[in-house]
Amino acid sequence: MEALEQLDEILSCHLDVGRRTVQPCTVVIFGASGDLTARKLIPALFQLCAGKQLPDPCRIVGFARRPKSTEAWRAELREDLQKFSRPGEFDPAKCDTFSAKVSYCTGEFGDPAAYQRLRAQLDGFGHEMLRRNLIFYLATSPSQFAEIAEHLHEARLLGRSDGGRDGSRLVVEKPFGHDLASAQELNHELTRFACEKQIYRIDHYLGKETVQNILMFRFSNSVFEQLWSRQSVEQVQITVSEKLGVGGRGEYYEETGALRDMVQNHLLQVLALVAMEPPVSLEAEAVRDEKVKLLKSIRPFETGQMAVSAVRGQYAAGEIDGAQVPGYRQEPKVKPDSNTETYVALRLLVDNWRWSGVPFYLRTGKRLPASTSEVRIQFRPTPHVLFAAQCGKNLDANSLTLRLQPNEGINLRFNGKTPGTNMEIRPVRMQFDYHAEFGAYTPEAYQRLLLEVMADDSTLFIRRDEVETAWSIVDPIRQAWAGLPLPESAFYPAGRWGPAAADELLARLHHKWRMTSDVVPKPEKP
Ligand code: BG6
Repeated sequence: MEALEQLDEILSCHLDVGRRTVQPCTVVIFGASGDLTARKLIPALFQLCAGKQLPDPCRIVGFARRPKSTEAWRAELREDLQKFSRPGEFDPAKCDTFSAKVSYCTGEFGDPAAYQRLRAQLDGFGHEMLRRNLIFYLATSPSQFAEIAEHLHEARLLGRSDGGRDGSRLVVEKPFGHDLASAQELNHELTRFACEKQIYRIDHYLGKETVQNILMFRFSNSVFEQLWSRQSVEQVQITVSEKLGVGGRGEYYEETGALRDMVQNHLLQVLALVAMEPPVSLEAEAVRDEKVKLLKSIRPFETGQMAVSAVRGQYAAGEIDGAQVPGYRQEPKVKPDSNTETYVALRLLVDNWRWSGVPFYLRTGKRLPASTSEVRIQFRPTPHVLFAAQCGKNLDANSLTLRLQPNEGINLRFNGKTPGTNMEIRPVRMQFDYHAEFGAYTPEAYQRLLLEVMADDSTLFIRRDEVETAWSIVDPIRQAWAGLPLPESAFYPAGRWGPAAADELLARLHHKWRMTSDVVPKPEKP
């Protein structure tokens, strides 16, 4: 008994006490027949409904061009849910409860009469909040955002209100513009019909549990926070790699490429969270102020420096998991001489007090050998005084890896003496694993994000100045690449870690890409 009393108490701290609760609302999805709706939005709303996290009452209206009845849409959604829910999550009875909340409205995005029909449908909802507390989710092409906002405004469904909790809100998907100028223009257009507080720009990476944990981990652990600066950190590596190719998204990807599709948003967001200063509070504006400050301190690219700080690549035919896969140029709806990059590696420098001189390496690509997102903090080596003669460069420096997905968790790699009569040092790992610690369930990013919109909390969404600053970082790179054909050396076979130039980018500073999967040798049998 006494021994038990001495066990460490598990103190848990609830940060959401006093947080706004969700109020009855209607979510209108524009682009209801699209892929995003079927794969992500509907499964997320269904899960929220099954977990009794949706407000009561709550309605979901699908708005799209294709004429169909509510009954037909419900039947489609049932099939989608069976196909796209995570294993074990589909339940027919819960699906019936969910379906009862769902209805459909046929309409062209540019047709004012369609918005009147939508309005009439909303007016038919009994509860006053269902008619007033409206969330418009624009899961459409970005070129339609402004047009839809304008029509909603004209139909008196969307008005500028600076954050009243029953005001209408707009949720917009990425890509938000295709460069700084277009993002500014879009911001300008949207803010004619809605205040900044009503606009929720999505980056689904911010809805991931492990990405949210970056701030909690950094600022609630004095052990690590003390090491989180140029004094102790030698370099930081952020990898978001995918085995998948572009598949059926060739048309979209031709216009986007990896720089716009992944770096401008997901990778820069992760970087901002890893490197920002502590915010004065966890309020949305305080957190976003610090992220913007960090993004603004990234040193701008100079054209003359491109060769040593930015690498692009495109996958050629190769092998993934033992199967032959085509090259990017052979994918459907891709030009046979396309110069679109499917791989980007960057070396960024953050010109502030904390990070001066520390390189941040970012890389992302399709058709790489693994689907993995992780952040590796590589610490400086110890002075080579004690072990220099015997170990030299073989004495590994410590590192901390935040495993964002899959196998979510955190690894600390440090050195230890191999047991035995020999004097041998080698790296060992200390590992925290989400599933082992907390059980298997982590909500999908969109579940969390939809709930945040309903609760009117924009902490996990991108603010106007944030999206514009992110574009100003990638624009010079894009401009330097535009019009220049990909050199032969930029093509990497599917299944390899990108072009050789990405390794050379790090080798200049005697660094190399490292992953958690880097093998720690097994002890030899005596
Ligand atoms: C999307 C990109 O934003 O993120 C896709 O458009 C990419 O190209 C995807 O595949 C990756 O997201 P996740 O959550 O699978 O890492």
